[in-house]
Amino acid sequence: MTGEIIIAPSILAADFARLGEEIAAIDTAGADWIHCDVMDGHFVPNISFGADVIKAIRPSTRKMFDVHLMIAPVDPYLEAFAKAGADVITVHAEAGAHLDRSLQAIRALGKKAGVSLCPSTPESAIEYVLDRLDLVLVMTVNPGFGGQSFLQSQLAKIERIKAMIGDRPIRLEVDGGVTRDNAAAVAAAGADTLVAGSAVFRGKSVAEYAANIAAIRTAAERGRVPKRQENAVQPMRLGDSARIR
Ligand code: DX5
Ligand code: ZN
Repeated sequence: MTGEIIIAPSILAADFARLGEEIAAIDTAGADWIHCDVMDGHFVPNISFGADVIKAIRPSTRKMFDVHLMIAPVDPYLEAFAKAGADVITVHAEAGAHLDRSLQAIRALGKKAGVSLCPSTPESAIEYVLDRLDLVLVMTVNPGFGGQSFLQSQLAKIERIKAMIGDRPIRLEVDGGVTRDNAAAVAAAGADTLVAGSAVFRGKSVAEYAANIAAIRTAAERGRVPKRQENAVQPMRLGDSARIR
């Protein structure tokens, strides 16, 4: 399945002292989803926020909350995030031994189920759970921090996962170091959902956020156009000759 391009700014890069305002700002600025990075200081070497913060910011926007759980164990907390207002709940394949059970539990809570793979985890880790998935999240940095550099090695993995997904209604999300400069390659590899934190929260105004989101979206959409089509001579449209001067 190839869905329309979704841009999901990561609020890890937002001003935590004004989180509700920042979410309203990226909503206005054109964010499609809001990517919420939950970190426990155990699965990843950083601590961010928990379900109570998700609940507190939920009224700030009607956009999808794309909750990325970088926590282990994860099963004991799924219900709390579902009740707090998560729409998509993504767990790490590396967070425990029972990924199939976790994905079933997310769907049983009425939420969309996602799995995330760290850079060193091969795509074979999701081979037997494809039919439990609404989203696959490929990490293009080692999870735990925003502002890191994009790992080019993951482009081949994105292509292979795209092929594994086939016609299934599964979104392919990429997360970590995504910018307007690599968004085309990410989309060309097969991603349809792009997370960006530092590349969106550059500047402070809605206008700057909107320009950042639009630049990433434009680059991603350009990356999807087959090369031959992009260079093709554009067909003459009725009335064109009148305009050529
Ligand atoms: C990293 C997080 C990412 C990160 C993205 O563990 O999962 O979502 O915040 O931030 P940038 O786009 O700055 O790499
Ligand atoms: Zn994330």
